[in-house]
Amino acid sequence: MLSLAVSCVVASLASVAHGAGWDGSRYAWYSSDAAGDWHNALPIGNGRLGALVFGSLNEKLTLNENSVWSGGWQDRVNPKSNKDVVARTRDMLIARNYTAAGEYALTNMAGNPTSPRAYQPLVDLGLEFGHSSAGVSNYARWLDTLEGTAGVNYTYGGVTYTREYVASYPHGVLAFRLSASKAGSLNVKLSLNRTQWVLAQGAAVGDNAKSGVHALTLSANSGQATGALTFGSEARIVHSGGTATSADNTTVSISGADTIDIIFNAESSYRYPEAAAARAEGQRKLGAAVTAGFPAIRDAAVKDFRTLANRVKLNLGESPNGAAAKPVPERLVAYRKDADADPQLVTLMFNFGRHLLISSSRDTGLRSLPANLQGLWNPFYSPAWQSKYTININLEMNYWPALVTNLLDTQKPVFDLINVAIPRGQAVAKAMYNCDNGGFVLHHNIDIWGDAAPVDKGTPYTIWPLGAAWLSHDVMEQYRFTQDKTYLRDTAWPILRQAALFFHCHLFQWNGYWTAGPSLSPEHGFEVPNVPGASTVGKEEGLDISIESDNQILRQLFTAVLEACQALELPANSTDCAAAAKFLPGLRPPGISAKTGAILEWREDYPEHEPAHRHFSNLFGIYPGSQLTPHANYTAAAKKHVDRRLAAGSGSTGWSRTWAVNLYARLREGELAYKSLQTLLQKFPSDNLLNSDSGPGSSTQIDGNFGFTAGVAEMLVQSHEGTIHLLPAIPSAKQIPKGEVKGLTGRGAFVVDVSWADGKLVEARVVAKAYDTSFKLKVLGKDTGFTINGREVSEVKTTAGGVYRILPVK
Ligand SMILES: *[C@@H]1O[C@H](CO)[C@@H](O)[C@H](O)[C@H]1NC(C)=O
Ligand SMILES: *[C@@H]1O[C@H](CO)[C@@H](O)[C@H](O)[C@H]1NC(C)=O
Ligand SMILES: *[C@@H]1O[C@H](CO)[C@@H](O)[C@H](O)[C@H]1NC(C)=O
Ligand SMILES: *[C@@H]1O[C@H](CO)[C@@H](O)[C@H](O)[C@H]1NC(C)=O
Ligand SMILES: *[C@@H]1O[C@H](CO)[C@@H](O)[C@H](O)[C@H]1NC(C)=O
Ligand SMILES: *[C@@H]1O[C@H](CO)[C@@H](O)[C@H](O)[C@H]1NC(C)=O
Repeated sequence: MLSLAVSCVVASLASVAHGAGWDGSRYAWYSSDAAGDWHNALPIGNGRLGALVFGSLNEKLTLNENSVWSGGWQDRVNPKSNKDVVARTRDMLIARNYTAAGEYALTNMAGNPTSPRAYQPLVDLGLEFGHSSAGVSNYARWLDTLEGTAGVNYTYGGVTYTREYVASYPHGVLAFRLSASKAGSLNVKLSLNRTQWVLAQGAAVGDNAKSGVHALTLSANSGQATGALTFGSEARIVHSGGTATSADNTTVSISGADTIDIIFNAESSYRYPEAAAARAEGQRKLGAAVTAGFPAIRDAAVKDFRTLANRVKLNLGESPNGAAAKPVPERLVAYRKDADADPQLVTLMFNFGRHLLISSSRDTGLRSLPANLQGLWNPFYSPAWQSKYTININLEMNYWPALVTNLLDTQKPVFDLINVAIPRGQAVAKAMYNCDNGGFVLHHNIDIWGDAAPVDKGTPYTIWPLGAAWLSHDVMEQYRFTQDKTYLRDTAWPILRQAALFFHCHLFQWNGYWTAGPSLSPEHGFEVPNVPGASTVGKEEGLDISIESDNQILRQLFTAVLEACQALELPANSTDCAAAAKFLPGLRPPGISAKTGAILEWREDYPEHEPAHRHFSNLFGIYPGSQLTPHANYTAAAKKHVDRRLAAGSGSTGWSRTWAVNLYARLREGELAYKSLQTLLQKFPSDNLLNSDSGPGSSTQIDGNFGFTAGVAEMLVQSHEGTIHLLPAIPSAKQIPKGEVKGLTGRGAFVVDVSWADGKLVEARVVAKAYDTSFKLKVLGKDTGFTINGREVSEVKTTAGGVYRILPVK
């Protein structure tokens, strides 16, 4: 993901602060509206439909549906691309003719057009109340991270007006209720709007203007003359009291009502290619929701959300002096001055990350879609980086908290999208690489169609055939966390083996190692070294062979294949298992720089083009992978690399900073990890707490929110080395004197609660989830100093549902 700065002017509806009563670990609350700035609007969602709550007096809600993209599938494969191009590029790279190889590969391999499709806005919902800001007092707007709901209330003319905003996973709709403390006080004009490619728009007042159900509809498409994606949206309006009228085809006005409920849905041709089927699905959801009524929709939505959100509870202590009860914008300003004054902001940000994942990624049935670069929320027709699925770190980072913070339910959309991408990736493997063995290749971005061709046109990012291999890491991790063999056999294995198959064909022997390439170290360039034969010396290049991160990703992939072969009891001589056993030991081990002691990024110690570069790709094997953590020489060299990068100015995008948190956590550097969490909060969140790329108001990148939540969890519980490690990287006692977390999960299917004080264990509890197994335990880096169920041991056999209490030895 490239770095991009956009500045933005924020004006605000002034109001009186009245903070007492808000739990600052749970609520993000505001004493003013978002003043039209989407970096201040609050995100809610049901995994498919999203809303951004601005809370203005004339409300404008940005509504999204996650399959509304800028067009249908496009075949972007470069017609000049074939196996000879790959072979020739390889030969040039082996001969160190880097510059010529880069130019040749871009000309012959880059896709046309260079970009896949972009994520698009759906519609805005307008609610005009006719209130003027002069008469408003006690304004509050909030997001409840544990219920997934948002709200607005204020007093106007002696009446309190309240708005409730709900995204319902069970009913599959968005539902909003407007109410007032005095009967008959609501006068609201409602409208849907969209500026591009509207096909039809309507407003219908029901048969009975006093108690009927009224509707606003809008249908549109992605604008192409043929093959466009089409979508329709509808808001049903139900009111008690008052009268409905419509003066035109685009608005409904309700006057003198007690309450007004708005139930919203949208469907697209992505899931329902037949217009009639899309319409029927929309009517089914809306009909059921309207019949249920707002209170039942809200209760079911909250119950569902809480079932997931409540699985984990984090407590890092209370912020002194009521700091956490203040509105978020004030808290962020105060935090920039003194990060230690509001530890509850860390807890809120942790909860917010889980809120975002639950809200933007659920199994919504047919072809569910994962969280994209902005999750689910997007008001722009040209969003930053098309708001697509960038798979050289960003989409994967979105799912870093999914397993460890007990949100398995959010993972299915990733598998659905991979399954859409597999046939595309097989076609590209054949066309570009002449690999026709059923393997699939993805490059560094995909869209909802699984577009597998190379993206953009630059040597540090375009020709990177490792996308499917990296994506399959998360797929295998789900098995490790759940030990669910049905999942492994039916879902994970087909993906893993097809990701690996591509490399059976692609890898070649170089210097005695199985080697991938042409490839690159995601988005980072090197300067051509001054060695015999190299050209053009000193020039920035990106393309090479035997990239360090490629080797680490492949080591992780073949290890996963062998692990699956064993778990599924597949014959060792089957093609998949035998190939993994052949390639794994033949991958080049990491190099360590003689000059700096840090892990190398390329096949040799090339001069880095950007010593402060944001990607830590050559530490994949520390996090999210785990192959390097058991080796002291590599962890020391990895720490050198992170330290050097940060000292040079890396961690300069929000997501990059959170990758540093997770790396430091794996390197057992709790104090440094916590410092980077604090830096993240000081530098990157916009007022709505969404992570930004390069500072508040710059483009939103939700990966940093997810990386933050994962990082907190990784500091408290780890399980990647076959051991449950409690408190592996806690903050220093000065940073956080005591804390507690409940409900994190560990590989092997365990749920873990742990508390600590003054740098020492207070107590912990491990619950074995699935079936009879065993676990090994470490606490604070040691396998002694504690008891498990009263015995001084570090390993116990477990029974399904067994509870194991861990206490320090007195
Ligand atoms: C690099 O490759 C280009 C294109 O094939 C060729 O013209 C050039 O002579 C090569 N340079 C070296 C130093 O081999
Ligand atoms: C708005 O709702 C909050 C939270 O329930 C409550 O504390 C506050 O008193 C309400 N404000 C008004 C003006 O009613
Ligand atoms: C709704 O209209 C406003 C004002 O014209 C525009 O900025 C916004 O983009 C429109 N919304 C959509 C979804 O097109
Ligand atoms: C509403 O739409 C209908 C049907 O398209 C059209 O005949 C009518 O003129 C429209 N009314 C307004 C006020 O635009
Ligand atoms: C694999 O091994 C089994 C048992 O030794 C043998 O029966 C089978 O023929 C072998 N298959 C292949 C593909 O070599
Ligand atoms: C690092 O340690 C591993 C495992 O002990 C060893 O195989 C490897 O050779 C070492 N690498 C270096 C560069 O010392």
